[in-house]
Amino acid sequence: MSDPYSNLASEEEAIQARIADAMEARCLDPAQIAIRQEYLGNLELPEGAYAVEFGSGTGHVTRDLITIAGAARALGIEPSPIMVQRAKQNFAAMPEISFETGDAKQTGLADASVDLVLMHTLLCHVPGPQDVIREAFRVLKPGGLLAICDGDYDTATTQIADFDPLDQIVRFMINQNVTNLWIMRQIADMLVSTGFDLDRRRGHGYVAESDATYFLTVIDRGADRMVETGVLFPATGEALKAEASKRVAESKFFGFMSYVSQVAQKPAAE
Ligand SMILES: C[S@@+](CC[C@H](N)C(=O)[O-])C[C@H]1O[C@@H](n2cnc3c(N)ncnc32)[C@H](O)[C@@H]1O
Repeated sequence: MSDPYSNLASEEEAIQARIADAMEARCLDPAQIAIRQEYLGNLELPEGAYAVEFGSGTGHVTRDLITIAGAARALGIEPSPIMVQRAKQNFAAMPEISFETGDAKQTGLADASVDLVLMHTLLCHVPGPQDVIREAFRVLKPGGLLAICDGDYDTATTQIADFDPLDQIVRFMINQNVTNLWIMRQIADMLVSTGFDLDRRRGHGYVAESDATYFLTVIDRGADRMVETGVLFPATGEALKAEASKRVAESKFFGFMSYVSQVAQKPAAE
């Protein structure tokens, strides 16, 4: 199966809605908010800055451009109409944020018109990420910033002991839902060859806390997908989902993934 996030608008509405629910759960997880604060909280933006998120999903990270990064106006660009509708509903009360359907490879934004471009867990899903980076370079003003954060997917795990079967579901989900597992290990070279100057690179450990809401969406979707593809019988899928929920209820669940952020700058005009 190809990564459904890479062409979400072409997926059935029920699949888009299930992914939107999972994205929403992840965005609202306090440990995920802390990661976004770590890399967006200390960017130096000019007064009245205009910021754009490429691949804005349900819009919570676009909102961070205002509330954490301190931009005055923000736009989210996203190909899935269901995500855009969800984002518009979520942030209807904030006129300084808008959302549009569109493609990060061809945004239609004017050259040199944006102070900050953000890509939060976008590039791992895009075949040809270099085209997205070139588009960011084109729309950024000289001196403008690009902030990228994505999972370092080979580090994702729910394993609590040798041969733990729950971990296979996480591996399967990544295999089925991520186009490039290694994007954050390859990004620096892509940025430099596009003309960006590299700024801060940081690692952010994500450990699922308390009710592990987002990690449980990973297990549930992964187990269902294993059943759909014939890897598991339905009863086994349900048993593994129940195992995950019971671990959460009995404080035995462990879920971890490392994220990496990279900030880069378009060189200022001479
Ligand atoms: C994992 S979600 C992340 C959404 C949001 N950034 C967040 O963190 O909640 C990746 C998003 O990128 C979008 N996407 C995929 N390919 C895209 C493209 N070529 N241009 C813009 N967005 C794209 C998907 O539709 C999806 O909503």
